[in-house]
Amino acid sequence: MADLGTVWMGLPLRSPIVLAASPLSKAPQDVRRAVAAGAGAVVMHSLFEEQVVDEQMAAHRFIDMRRDADAEARSVLPDADMSALDGDAYVFALEHLRQQVDVPIIASLNGTTAGGWVRFADMLAQAGADALELNLYDIATDPDEDAAQVEARQLALVEAVVRAVPIPVCVKLSPFYTALPAFVLKLAGLGVSGVTVFNRLYQPVPDIDALEVRRELMLSTPADLPLRLQALALLSPLLARSAGGGQVVELACSGGVHSGRDAAAAVVCGAQVVQLASTLLEKGPDHVAAVLAQLDAWLDEKGYASVAEARGVLDLSRTPDPHAWYRLNYMQLLEGWQPSIQRRQCDG
Ligand SMILES: Cc1cc2nc3c(=O)[nH]c(=O)nc-3n(C[C@H](O)[C@H](O)[C@H](O)COP(=O)(O)O)c2cc1C
Repeated sequence: MADLGTVWMGLPLRSPIVLAASPLSKAPQDVRRAVAAGAGAVVMHSLFEEQVVDEQMAAHRFIDMRRDADAEARSVLPDADMSALDGDAYVFALEHLRQQVDVPIIASLNGTTAGGWVRFADMLAQAGADALELNLYDIATDPDEDAAQVEARQLALVEAVVRAVPIPVCVKLSPFYTALPAFVLKLAGLGVSGVTVFNRLYQPVPDIDALEVRRELMLSTPADLPLRLQALALLSPLLARSAGGGQVVELACSGGVHSGRDAAAAVVCGAQVVQLASTLLEKGPDHVAAVLAQLDAWLDEKGYASVAEARGVLDLSRTPDPHAWYRLNYMQLLEGWQPSIQRRQCDG
């Protein structure tokens, strides 16, 4: 059996399979099963910025109501800082999970403005989170905010969180950056310890019968994976070079990993870990064991003694044909496209 151990954000993990932020990580029995099946770490479901804002607004409304109703209440009611209220349930869930499993637990924050995040991040670190994943889920809708401003806002948020917490911080990105390598290097410069590529954005679907827009979150398929693989292959050598400056930034693949061979593809492109959500929602948390067994069989077949040995062997700096990762490949692919190739891929 190959050595499946890995390191993510500086945390030693016994396997590269990580339970992604999803409803599974909300259910302690599912987390226990995934860990028993070999998962190396757990990312909790996210605490959303909107939840925090809603809680704060509700608390403020309550206090204002009481103040208006009862002048005496002024002397006993707390100050407008509602830090004790926010996210208590999330902290409780984290502490509970901490007692259930012996693998690193990564808390997840989902938002795009600094606001209360810094205080929150610190609370989660105090409550025993081994690391934080910051999901920069952002859909640009403001025509007055250009790309540079969006990125500057995101970088300010990340910087504030990294400075505030003593634990490693990973940033989960969407695939839609004009210049991903440059943005990721800026994140590295701020001291993040990991980058997760990529979040899957929920896509509203117009219902042309009811003439309304439905909110849908479709589970992934392996067809979601190649976008991630290319990003990993491009980022992996870049981050290895920038690590010369001190901070090591490790890559996680999230999206479209459904089998051990998918996991192997992410590893050879440079991933330290792969995060699984959809396939475990479909097949159950025990499926981690099958994914690990396939990964192990592949390592064995190729003669790799460990995941570490296989990591990055096809990234941009090490693949025998680096042009395959570039746009040049696109032109050649279009020119050489044959229906039979397409059919074979669909059949497979
Ligand atoms: C039902 C569901 C809920 C999710 N909730 C979160 C969440 O709270 N925070 C987050 O960062 N990602 C969330 N995700 C995204 C997953 O963590 C993961 O990035 C994405 O599903 C891609 O991985 P997959 O192809 O294995 O599903 C969710 C995904 C699903 C399917």
